[in-house]
Amino acid sequence: MSPDKKHRFGRNWMNEHLNDSYVKKAKKSGYRARSAFKLEEIDKKDKLLRPGLNVVDLGAAPGGWCQYARKKLGKKSRLIAVDLLPIEPIEGVEIIQGDFTEEQVRQQINDMVDNKAFDLVLSDMAPNISGIALADQARSIGLAEGVLDWSLSVLAVDGGLLMKVFQGSGFDPLRKEILSNFRSVAVRKPGASRSRSAEVYLLARGFKGI
Ligand SMILES: C[S@@+](CC[C@H](N)C(=O)[O-])C[C@H]1O[C@@H](n2cnc3c(N)ncnc32)[C@H](O)[C@@H]1O
Repeated sequence: MSPDKKHRFGRNWMNEHLNDSYVKKAKKSGYRARSAFKLEEIDKKDKLLRPGLNVVDLGAAPGGWCQYARKKLGKKSRLIAVDLLPIEPIEGVEIIQGDFTEEQVRQQINDMVDNKAFDLVLSDMAPNISGIALADQARSIGLAEGVLDWSLSVLAVDGGLLMKVFQGSGFDPLRKEILSNFRSVAVRKPGASRSRSAEVYLLARGFKGI
Protein backbone atom coordinates (compact mmCIF):
# COMPACT_ATOMS: atom_id res chain seq x y z
CA MET A 1 0.00 0.00 0.00
CA SER A 2 1.35 3.44 -0.84
CA PRO A 3 1.94 5.79 2.11
CA ASP A 4 -0.31 8.29 0.37
CA LYS A 5 -3.30 6.00 0.50
CA LYS A 6 -5.66 6.65 3.38
CA HIS A 7 -5.12 4.21 6.23
CA ARG A 8 -6.93 3.90 9.54
CA PHE A 9 -3.63 4.39 11.44
CA GLY A 10 -2.69 7.55 9.50
CA ARG A 11 0.23 8.53 7.27
CA ASN A 12 2.94 8.57 9.97
CA TRP A 13 2.04 5.06 11.03
CA MET A 14 2.07 3.88 7.41
CA ASN A 15 5.47 5.47 6.69
CA GLU A 16 6.93 3.90 9.81
CA HIS A 17 5.38 0.56 8.93
CA LEU A 18 6.69 0.53 5.37
CA ASN A 19 10.19 1.49 6.46
CA ASP A 20 10.25 -0.95 9.34
CA SER A 21 13.00 -3.50 8.68
CA TYR A 22 10.97 -6.25 10.36
CA VAL A 23 8.10 -5.62 7.94
CA LYS A 24 10.50 -6.03 5.02
CA LYS A 25 12.04 -9.11 6.62
CA ALA A 26 8.58 -10.62 7.22
CA LYS A 27 7.63 -10.07 3.58
CA LYS A 28 10.84 -11.75 2.46
CA SER A 29 10.42 -14.70 4.83
CA GLY A 30 6.78 -15.24 3.89
CA TYR A 31 5.48 -14.37 7.36
CA ARG A 32 2.07 -12.77 7.59
CA ALA A 33 3.15 -10.49 10.42
CA ARG A 34 6.34 -8.92 11.72
CA SER A 35 5.37 -10.26 15.14
CA ALA A 36 6.68 -13.67 14.02
CA PHE A 37 10.16 -12.31 14.81
CA LYS A 38 9.17 -11.61 18.41
CA LEU A 39 8.38 -15.27 18.96
CA GLU A 40 11.44 -16.33 16.97
CA GLU A 41 13.76 -14.21 19.10
CA ILE A 42 12.28 -15.43 22.37
CA ASP A 43 12.32 -19.03 21.15
CA LYS A 44 15.95 -18.80 20.06
CA LYS A 45 16.93 -17.50 23.47
CA ASP A 46 14.67 -19.65 25.64
CA LYS A 47 14.23 -22.82 23.53
CA LEU A 48 10.46 -22.96 23.92
CA LEU A 49 9.29 -24.86 20.87
CA ARG A 50 10.29 -28.40 20.01
CA PRO A 51 8.71 -31.39 18.25
CA GLY A 52 6.02 -33.24 20.16
CA LEU A 53 4.65 -30.32 22.16
CA ASN A 54 0.94 -29.49 22.17
CA VAL A 55 0.52 -25.75 21.90
CA VAL A 56 -2.32 -23.22 21.89
CA ASP A 57 -1.78 -19.76 20.38
CA LEU A 58 -4.27 -17.16 21.69
CA GLY A 59 -4.77 -14.00 19.64
CA ALA A 60 -3.17 -15.70 16.67
CA ALA A 61 -4.39 -13.63 13.68
CA PRO A 62 -3.12 -13.10 11.06
CA GLY A 63 -0.92 -16.11 11.87
CA GLY A 64 2.75 -15.06 12.06
CA TRP A 65 3.41 -16.86 15.36
CA CYS A 66 1.63 -19.97 14.05
CA GLN A 67 3.74 -19.98 10.89
CA TYR A 68 6.93 -19.85 12.96
CA ALA A 69 5.71 -22.34 15.58
CA ARG A 70 4.52 -24.81 12.96
CA LYS A 71 8.04 -24.98 11.54
CA LYS A 72 9.48 -25.81 14.96
CA LEU A 73 6.84 -28.36 16.04
CA GLY A 74 6.95 -31.79 14.45
CA LYS A 75 4.05 -33.60 12.84
CA LYS A 76 3.01 -35.22 16.14
CA SER A 77 2.42 -31.84 17.79
CA ARG A 78 -0.92 -30.09 17.81
CA LEU A 79 -1.18 -26.37 17.34
CA ILE A 80 -4.51 -24.69 18.04
CA ALA A 81 -4.93 -21.05 16.99
CA VAL A 82 -7.65 -18.81 18.46
CA ASP A 83 -8.67 -15.32 17.45
CA LEU A 84 -11.66 -13.01 17.23
CA LEU A 85 -10.70 -12.48 13.60
CA PRO A 86 -10.62 -15.06 10.83
CA ILE A 87 -7.24 -16.66 10.12
CA GLU A 88 -6.39 -17.86 6.62
CA PRO A 89 -5.67 -21.61 6.80
CA ILE A 90 -2.13 -22.72 7.70
CA GLU A 91 -1.22 -26.36 7.18
CA GLY A 92 -1.12 -28.22 10.47
CA VAL A 93 -2.87 -25.48 12.44
CA GLU A 94 -6.37 -26.00 13.85
CA ILE A 95 -8.22 -22.71 13.92
CA ILE A 96 -10.99 -21.49 16.21
CA GLN A 97 -12.59 -18.12 15.54
CA GLY A 98 -14.03 -16.66 18.72
CA ASP A 99 -13.56 -14.59 21.84
CA PHE A 100 -11.17 -16.26 24.25
CA THR A 101 -12.83 -14.52 27.20
CA GLU A 102 -16.02 -16.50 26.51
CA GLU A 103 -16.43 -19.78 28.36
CA GLN A 104 -17.89 -21.45 25.27
CA VAL A 105 -14.71 -20.72 23.27
CA ARG A 106 -12.47 -22.06 26.07
CA GLN A 107 -14.61 -25.18 26.11
CA GLN A 108 -14.23 -25.49 22.34
CA ILE A 109 -10.43 -25.47 22.78
CA ASN A 110 -10.59 -28.18 25.45
CA ASP A 111 -12.98 -30.26 23.32
CA MET A 112 -10.67 -30.02 20.32
CA VAL A 113 -7.89 -31.77 22.27
CA ASP A 114 -10.24 -34.08 24.26
CA ASN A 115 -9.28 -32.22 27.44
CA LYS A 116 -5.65 -33.27 26.99
CA ALA A 117 -3.20 -30.94 28.70
CA PHE A 118 -1.17 -28.38 26.74
CA ASP A 119 2.60 -28.14 27.06
CA LEU A 120 2.69 -24.49 26.12
CA VAL A 121 0.20 -21.62 26.07
CA LEU A 122 1.13 -18.65 23.87
CA SER A 123 -0.78 -15.39 24.00
CA ASP A 124 -0.05 -12.35 21.86
CA MET A 125 -3.55 -10.99 22.59
CA ALA A 126 -3.88 -7.27 22.91
CA PRO A 127 -7.03 -5.32 23.72
CA ASN A 128 -8.51 -2.99 21.12
CA ILE A 129 -6.33 0.08 21.54
CA SER A 130 -8.43 3.10 22.57
CA GLY A 131 -5.45 5.47 22.80
CA ILE A 132 -6.15 6.06 26.48
CA ALA A 133 -2.98 4.51 27.86
CA LEU A 134 -4.28 3.77 31.37
CA ALA A 135 -7.43 2.09 30.09
CA ASP A 136 -5.54 0.06 27.46
CA GLN A 137 -3.00 -1.05 30.04
CA ALA A 138 -5.74 -2.11 32.49
CA ARG A 139 -7.47 -4.12 29.75
CA SER A 140 -4.20 -5.79 28.84
CA ILE A 141 -3.69 -6.87 32.48
CA GLY A 142 -7.30 -8.13 32.55
CA LEU A 143 -6.72 -10.24 29.44
CA ALA A 144 -3.44 -11.59 30.83
CA GLU A 145 -5.08 -12.54 34.15
CA GLY A 146 -7.71 -14.46 32.19
CA VAL A 147 -4.99 -16.25 30.21
CA LEU A 148 -3.13 -17.12 33.40
CA ASP A 149 -6.25 -18.49 35.15
CA TRP A 150 -7.17 -20.62 32.19
CA SER A 151 -3.59 -21.80 31.68
CA LEU A 152 -3.51 -23.14 35.25
CA SER A 153 -6.40 -25.43 34.33
CA VAL A 154 -5.08 -26.68 30.97
CA LEU A 155 -1.29 -26.90 31.32
CA ALA A 156 0.61 -30.11 31.90
CA VAL A 157 2.95 -30.17 34.89
CA ASP A 158 6.21 -28.51 33.86
CA GLY A 159 4.40 -26.70 31.02
CA GLY A 160 5.08 -23.11 29.98
CA LEU A 161 3.25 -19.87 29.30
CA LEU A 162 4.36 -16.94 27.16
CA MET A 163 2.03 -13.95 27.13
CA LYS A 164 2.01 -10.35 26.10
CA VAL A 165 1.16 -7.75 28.70
CA PHE A 166 1.41 -3.96 28.87
CA GLN A 167 3.64 -2.84 31.72
CA GLY A 168 2.10 -0.61 34.39
CA SER A 169 -0.34 -0.95 37.25
CA GLY A 170 -1.09 -4.57 38.11
CA PHE A 171 2.01 -5.90 36.40
CA ASP A 172 3.97 -6.82 39.54
CA PRO A 173 1.05 -8.61 41.27
CA LEU A 174 0.51 -10.57 38.04
CA ARG A 175 4.18 -11.52 37.95
CA LYS A 176 4.02 -12.64 41.60
CA GLU A 177 0.92 -14.72 40.94
CA ILE A 178 2.72 -16.42 38.07
CA LEU A 179 5.71 -17.12 40.25
CA SER A 180 3.57 -18.89 42.84
CA ASN A 181 2.45 -21.34 40.14
CA PHE A 182 5.59 -21.73 38.03
CA ARG A 183 9.23 -22.47 38.74
CA SER A 184 10.40 -19.27 37.06
CA VAL A 185 9.17 -16.13 35.37
CA ALA A 186 11.14 -13.82 33.09
CA VAL A 187 10.35 -10.62 31.24
CA ARG A 188 11.25 -10.48 27.55
CA LYS A 189 11.26 -7.45 25.23
CA PRO A 190 12.26 -8.72 21.80
CA GLY A 191 13.90 -6.43 19.24
CA ALA A 192 10.81 -6.48 17.01
CA SER A 193 8.72 -5.03 19.85
CA ARG A 194 8.72 -1.26 19.36
CA SER A 195 10.59 0.48 22.18
CA ARG A 196 7.84 3.10 22.59
CA SER A 197 5.29 0.34 23.19
CA ALA A 198 4.53 -0.68 26.79
CA GLU A 199 4.28 -4.29 25.67
CA VAL A 200 6.56 -6.93 27.11
CA TYR A 201 6.26 -10.71 27.26
CA LEU A 202 6.06 -12.67 30.48
CA LEU A 203 7.62 -16.08 30.13
CA ALA A 204 6.69 -18.62 32.79
CA ARG A 205 8.39 -22.04 32.85
CA GLY A 206 7.89 -25.16 34.91
CA PHE A 207 4.20 -25.18 35.84
CA LYS A 208 3.97 -26.70 39.31
CA GLY A 209 0.51 -28.22 38.77
CA ILE A 210 -2.62 -27.68 40.80
C1 LIG B 1 -0.92 -8.51 17.94
S1 LIG B 1 -2.21 -9.43 17.24
C2 LIG B 1 -1.51 -11.04 17.19
C3 LIG B 1 -0.49 -11.25 16.10
C4 LIG B 1 -0.11 -12.72 15.97
N1 LIG B 1 0.68 -13.17 17.10
C5 LIG B 1 0.68 -12.97 14.70
O1 LIG B 1 1.88 -13.24 14.81
O2 LIG B 1 0.11 -12.93 13.62
C6 LIG B 1 -3.32 -9.56 18.58
C7 LIG B 1 -4.57 -10.38 18.27
O3 LIG B 1 -5.28 -10.61 19.48
C8 LIG B 1 -6.63 -10.80 19.12
N2 LIG B 1 -7.50 -10.74 20.31
C9 LIG B 1 -7.65 -9.70 21.17
N3 LIG B 1 -8.55 -10.00 22.10
C10 LIG B 1 -8.96 -11.27 21.85
C11 LIG B 1 -9.91 -12.14 22.48
N4 LIG B 1 -10.60 -11.76 23.56
N5 LIG B 1 -10.09 -13.37 21.96
C12 LIG B 1 -9.40 -13.77 20.86
N6 LIG B 1 -8.51 -12.98 20.22
C13 LIG B 1 -8.29 -11.75 20.70
C14 LIG B 1 -6.88 -9.69 18.11
O4 LIG B 1 -8.00 -9.97 17.31
C15 LIG B 1 -5.55 -9.68 17.33
O5 LIG B 1 -5.68 -10.42 16.13
